[in-house]
Amino acid sequence: MKIIGHRGVPAQKPENTLASYQRAVELGVKMIELDVYVCRTGELVIMHDDRIDRTTNGSGLVYEKTLKELKGFDAGEGEQIPTLQEALDLLAGKTDVNIELKGRGTGEALHAFLSRYLPERSWEPESLLVSSFNLPMLHEFACLEPDIPIGALHGGIPINYSDFVKPMHPYSLHYNLEFIDQKMVDHAHRQGYQVYIYTVNHQDDYLRMKQMGVDGVFTNDPTAL
Ligand code: G3P
Ligand code: MG
Repeated sequence: MKIIGHRGVPAQKPENTLASYQRAVELGVKMIELDVYVCRTGELVIMHDDRIDRTTNGSGLVYEKTLKELKGFDAGEGEQIPTLQEALDLLAGKTDVNIELKGRGTGEALHAFLSRYLPERSWEPESLLVSSFNLPMLHEFACLEPDIPIGALHGGIPINYSDFVKPMHPYSLHYNLEFIDQKMVDHAHRQGYQVYIYTVNHQDDYLRMKQMGVDGVFTNDPTAL
């Protein structure tokens, strides 16, 4: 079962910072999950919440700030808010990356960015996994970038289990630990989807997921597992 660093290793370093990703690499984590918005000047920046208040010393909506403004805030322990490019430059050849699309227009912006970025770098499309709760945006992205695997996020138990993702041909389904049960895992596997669970921070949950046949878990604390 794959262990995925959720926003890096927030148990040890500020979430969604380069220092947090670096720590995940040091711990041997094979995939890192990060959350991406488009900021006011069009760059892809990494931030979990739509506001910067919780994780930085600034205030306001991430998509209303320019990159220059965002770079002026402290994201914890003197770290800056990273751009997606900075994270991918750091992680190339070291870990796979799960890019979670947040906000609006992020799928199109990611497609535009990757069209420029990927041909010049060593990234293989299969080292990336793009996910979102915003399934129409994720579907749109998949149509633009058919070689990049996608993961459909869901926060509860869908009425038809994994049938809701059929038109999107995802690689994986990302379900909430609170709702996961054996029927959901088995249904997804019968359709050929990988099952990843967020957020697993305790060893008893980890072992329970393993027993259910889950393929990967997002965790804030890989050492606890
Ligand atoms: O991608 C898994 C998990 O990160 C989804 O929820 O709110 O932490 O982005 P959230
Ligand atoms: Mg996320």
